[in-house]
This record gives sequence, structure tokens and C-alpha cells, in this order.
Amino acid sequence: MTRKIIIDTDPGQDDAVAILLALASPEDFDVLGIVAVAGNVSLPQNARNALKVVELSGRTEVPVYAGCERPMRRHLVTAEHVHGDTGLNGPGLPEPKIRLKKQHGVDFIVDTLLAHEPGTITLCTLGPLTNIAMALVKAPRIASRIKEIVMMGGAYFEVGNITPAAEFNIYVDPEAADVVMRSGIPIVMAPLDATHMILTTHDRLEKIDAIGNKAGKAVAQMLAFSERFDLQKYGTKGAPLHDPCVIAYLIKPELFEGRHINVTIETASELTMGMTVADYWGVTGRVKNVTFLRSGHAEGFYQLLVERLARLP
Ligand code: RIB
Ligand code: CA
Repeated sequence: MTRKIIIDTDPGQDDAVAILLALASPEDFDVLGIVAVAGNVSLPQNARNALKVVELSGRTEVPVYAGCERPMRRHLVTAEHVHGDTGLNGPGLPEPKIRLKKQHGVDFIVDTLLAHEPGTITLCTLGPLTNIAMALVKAPRIASRIKEIVMMGGAYFEVGNITPAAEFNIYVDPEAADVVMRSGIPIVMAPLDATHMILTTHDRLEKIDAIGNKAGKAVAQMLAFSERFDLQKYGTKGAPLHDPCVIAYLIKPELFEGRHINVTIETASELTMGMTVADYWGVTGRVKNVTFLRSGHAEGFYQLLVERLARLP
């Protein structure tokens, strides 16, 4: 049974792998559209990267939109130190021939949710939650029409990656994350706790490169570039692969374990701004609003990724 999804993204090499995994899986997903958001790099650059990745996949019928250029309140913080100046350093992907759709990405999200049967569309978010929050502010009635949000973001036992307290996607737009956490929409969160178990070890990158197609080569080059920052920082044998966990969860949820808990976002203190305060042990009476994925199965994840990437051009 295919699932209708909208992918909201700030490509980023790991976003690119997530998009390729989704577009290589037509039996699992009807990808209604891809919406870029400001995050890893600027919005125009993220949107251009999304076009390049869609073109690489061969699925050029999938529409790409540009969403919000900056967070709801705070100044934009980007991550060129991880992803490179283009946000997609590694492979030299050609300039895209396909073009962005004219409609604003937030309007595409609202209109698509209103046009389809309620409860049939899943939002897969791979970056800051600005577009989703702005869609909820613009048209609150869409909240009850969203089947679920499956998001990469947050951290608890793993602590933060952009500050000691916060994970990047939440830190960039904590107000947007707060709107989404309080929305009542079913949420599955793939935090650093899970993604830090999905490491791009050398032999896994070799297997991806050995697929031999354009997509496999490009992914191997992307991850060889983006992993260098985390290898140095964490001193581990591989770097976490964050965003494709969202797509892999939807294809094979059994690859991950989680618990339904309360997650509340810090939006006041500069010291802990963007922290996802996860009540994992149920010590507060706060409403349980998130399925928090605490762990992931790396071998199963990479088997799935290699199998699906091999389907692409
Ligand atoms: O913290 C990891 C997240 O921040 C990933 O989505 C990565 O692409 C960056 O956006
Ligand atoms: Ca991302």
C-alpha cells in the first residue's frame, strides 16, 4: 500500500540520500512534492540542490517547491561547515534542467492537504520545521488532515550537535518546532539517539559505491564529504546518517525502537535554546505527543539503502 508523502527538506547530503531512497521506492511512496526550507544552507541553494537530486533520481515528474527563506523568529543559522559551501559538496552534480514550481512551498502544503482525503498524507520533514509551522499558522484546519509527521530532529540521551543542548533542525527554528509539537498531529521523531547508531562506516560506503550506478557513485561521494566533520568531532568509525532514517522508518518501522512520550521544546533560555526536553521516564504529567525513536538497526538500514539505490539510474 503506497503512502502519500510530502518531503520538506534542506539538502544537505543526508537529505539527498533520503530523497533518493523515497524516489527509489514507488511501491512504498507516492511523493506528492518536495518542499525546500532554509537550513543547512540558504533557501535558494537548498531548492537548487533538491532539483539536482530529483534529476539524479530520474523521477523528474516529482514537483519541487521553495518554502520559507528564514526561521519564524530567529536569524537563520546554516551548516556549511558540515555540508560545504553549496550544501551538497562531494559529487559535481550538473546544473538542474528541471525548474522550481512557482507556487510557494507553504501554499503547496496547505492546498495539497485540503485537496486530498483527510488523514491520507504524511509529512516527512528533514530540516527545520518552519514550512510546517507556517502552514499550520496560515491554515490551522490542516492539522486534523495530516496523517502523521515523521521528522528527523531532536536529541535527548545523545545530547545536541549544534549546541550542547540542541540538535540542528530544532535549534534553527525552535518556535516552529514548538508549534508542531503542540499541534496534536501524530509525530514520529527520529532524533540523534537513533541516527547516531546509523554510521557510514568505510565498508558501508564501499558497498554503496560498488552499486556502480550514477546514484550510488554520487551518494558515496556526498557521504565521503559530509562525514569528515563528524569523524573528526566524534572520533567514531563512521558518521551518523540522519535524514534517511525518516524514510527507512516508513518502509521498515521494525528497524527502529521507540516510545510514546512527551517532548517539549525550549524556546526561552539561550543556554538551552532548541533543546527537545523528552520526558522518557514519564516523570511529568505532560501529554504524550511524540513517538521518540531511541535506537536504530544499522545493518538492516544499510541493506535497505543499498538495495533501493541500486534501482536508480
Ligand atoms: O542534525 C542533523 C540534521 O541537520 C539533518 O537533517 C541534517 O541534514 C541537518 O539538516
Ligand atoms: Ca536535513
